[in-house]
Amino acid sequence: MICIPITSSSVEKAIQDIKESEKSADLIELRIDYIRDICDKKLGQLLKKTTKKVIVACRPGFCQGNFKKSESERISLLKRAVDLKASYIDIEFKTDKQEILELIENKKNSKIIISYHDFKRTPEIDVLEKKVKDVKRLNPNLIKIVTYANSINDNFKIFDLLRKNNDLISFCMGLYGHMSRVLSKKYGSVLTYSSLSMDKESAPGQIPVPELTKVYNYNLINPDTDVLGVIGSHAENSLSKYLHNANFKKQNLNFIYVPFKVSENDLCEFMANFRRFGLSGAAVTIPHKINVMQFLDKTEKTAKEIAAVNTIVNKNNRLKGYNTDYIGAVTALENKTTLSNKKVLVIGAGGAARAICFGLKRKKAAIVIANRTIGKAEKLAEEIDCRSCFLEEMYKEDPDIIINTTSVGMYPDEDKTVVKKEFLKERVVFDIVYRPMVTRLLKEAKEMGSEIIKGYEMLLYQGIEQYRLWTGKDPDEELMRKKLKEQLGKK
Ligand code: ATR
Repeated sequence: MICIPITSSSVEKAIQDIKESEKSADLIELRIDYIRDICDKKLGQLLKKTTKKVIVACRPGFCQGNFKKSESERISLLKRAVDLKASYIDIEFKTDKQEILELIENKKNSKIIISYHDFKRTPEIDVLEKKVKDVKRLNPNLIKIVTYANSINDNFKIFDLLRKNNDLISFCMGLYGHMSRVLSKKYGSVLTYSSLSMDKESAPGQIPVPELTKVYNYNLINPDTDVLGVIGSHAENSLSKYLHNANFKKQNLNFIYVPFKVSENDLCEFMANFRRFGLSGAAVTIPHKINVMQFLDKTEKTAKEIAAVNTIVNKNNRLKGYNTDYIGAVTALENKTTLSNKKVLVIGAGGAARAICFGLKRKKAAIVIANRTIGKAEKLAEEIDCRSCFLEEMYKEDPDIIINTTSVGMYPDEDKTVVKKEFLKERVVFDIVYRPMVTRLLKEAKEMGSEIIKGYEMLLYQGIEQYRLWTGKDPDEELMRKKLKEQLGKK
């Protein structure tokens, strides 16, 4: 279930938000500590305004809440909520135990949630289990355990806790806790809290309800849902969740795709958790494409040659690595031109150039690698068995196809380009930079009469190939393209 917290400071605004929330929420949480000068009368007005079930919570300062008056006034408001027939009352475990017991004893038709928060960390599983036991002794209807994630791996402690206990509401707060706000449902959390909009969150990391329902298809998640995601140190910025989740919904596939925000030091433990929880697969991005290989059981031949994996498929708990970056580049190119025997100038000699060059080699193109640092170009050229040159020497070449694999021209340096305009006459020019969608290089190439290929085409086709590897099905290409362009158009 989705619970939307109401965090407005006035009764009037709160009533507006309640109305708006009712469209997507199963439950509404009235955070009455946000309401200026909250009193019995105002509480009564608010409770009358919704037909949905309501949780009344009044967080004190010792639980990072806004309630400034005395503890006895706070408890009195919660008791009043029972009289006013609120469906649920949320009381903090850190409250005086006698007060909690008294509230439970006099709860009438209301249900009592006892909530435990750790705003700094996620304790180990044995500590969490003990906390659940301690709370249980007070005999509430529901137990809420919310911790702060400092690492992706903290989420799995909460999933372990959920797998061992029924009637729990549990997830992690913070940027690293994002995936638990989506996936805790799969592991049994009774509900998740979702903000009405970005500026109305009541705790760090709450996902706005349009994103939870429309991007993650939250209502479709169940215990059998297969989990996929993107492993990256800044995975939260990845656009792939928009592409894949939209297709899972359209094709009725029980998959969910989330960002796995994994920092460099957390990769080893994350991969152990990945196996332990039987996650179905992943995309892999910066900085893990090379390091992740040591944690796999097998790597497909071309990915091995490229020495980088951007896709993992879990089949019967055996993890196999693939590289779809080169397939994305080759498909984008082949939509516009043939590659066999074509002279291709590849600018740059980093990771992206490497994957693309292996793809071009398979297609029997004649490659020249030009790079600012000649040593890197020479090293890659030796592996590929092709020629290389200094960046400035590229103008002596006469290529059919030019590919920019450097980041030159990428937002916010949109005025930059790595190739002189005069050199762009009547060729095929492919820029892997996709922000902006049309880079200065592509704009000038078009002006010089060249065919252009935009960077997002590579992103699109490498994603399509990943989708095939994970699901065994072809996604709807146009839907993926639309979702990608929508997101790129926003920036
Ligand atoms: P990626 O994995 O995205 O390919 P990378 O491995 O860091 O990233 O490679 C970046 C490539 O872009 C390199 O070839 C780099 O040139 P150097 O090897 O000389 O560093 C190239 N590059 C980055 N900025 C550049 C610039 N301003 N001018 C020319 N080349 C540039």
